[in-house]
Amino acid sequence: MKLKRKDIITTVDLIKEDVDKILNRSEVMLGYLKREEVPELLKGKILATLFFEPSTRTRLSFTSAMQRLGGSVLGFSTEEETSVKKGESLEDTVRMADSYSDIIVIRHPEVGSGKRAADVAKNPVISAGDGPNHHPTQGLMDMFTIKKEKGLEKVSVALCGDLKYGRTVHSLIYLLGMYGPEINLVSPDSLRMPDKIVKDVKKTYGCEIKEFRTLQDVVSDVDVLYVTRIQKERFLNISEYGKLEGSYRVDKKLLEKAKKGLIVMHPLPRVSEISTEVDSTPFAKYFDHAAYGVPVRMALLSLLLGKI
Ligand code: NCD
Repeated sequence: MKLKRKDIITTVDLIKEDVDKILNRSEVMLGYLKREEVPELLKGKILATLFFEPSTRTRLSFTSAMQRLGGSVLGFSTEEETSVKKGESLEDTVRMADSYSDIIVIRHPEVGSGKRAADVAKNPVISAGDGPNHHPTQGLMDMFTIKKEKGLEKVSVALCGDLKYGRTVHSLIYLLGMYGPEINLVSPDSLRMPDKIVKDVKKTYGCEIKEFRTLQDVVSDVDVLYVTRIQKERFLNISEYGKLEGSYRVDKKLLEKAKKGLIVMHPLPRVSEISTEVDSTPFAKYFDHAAYGVPVRMALLSLLLGKI
């Protein structure tokens, strides 16, 4: 399958061959960055970043990736700055950005917004999160981190926390399904991964998925603990959030029982689900994980624009 000019809206649309290619090219980009010898593959190209929801890492790492490759970036980081405040539709905003740029990255609170953008744009569209649905480029950098740290086949991964509203885990579970590591889901009952996703991944990839309620159930058996924040902004009833706040936490005490070589990952931002005392331990991989956002996004932008 050709990635050139493809839209990246969810990980459901990707096949293993695409993911292999993106991960391999990400390794090449990481090499360029380490040697400080990045070729200007995207010179003259413009990326539009349309962020209708807050972002630190995703927007900045896309910007860094584009600029490292010699391209430039325009866009906005809040809808307050745009004509959406005057009543302009998402589609019209995207049409205009499309005509000013060569590729679009969009984050928006509505499920399906990435697809709507792709339907009107002529250039490739990458969704950087459509509400609680998917966040495919985060899933790709999660896979790159797991591959580098642990390899992708004989590894046991636990996805922990808000599996109901967390879009990063919705994207990641499909990618894990392609490679066959052991998948464990750990969440409070009310934040379980939607059944539809669990069934779909099992059916599509024929993999086994186990479910648990507490971190203690898995910490001594898994190689990767992928922790997520409770997605407070998705709760309709804030008292429901209050009941769940602090219901799981990774700290040094929990990690005393960890399997040798366990790594802790997190898409960030973290709130209180990983204690800062873990940051200085060999378990903590979440900052390296976030830094890989740049080479992975460099690879993806170059592939979609047909430059590698
Ligand atoms: C995630 C997101 O926006 O879904 N952040 C990110 O892109 N790294 C995770 C989160 O906000 O909890």
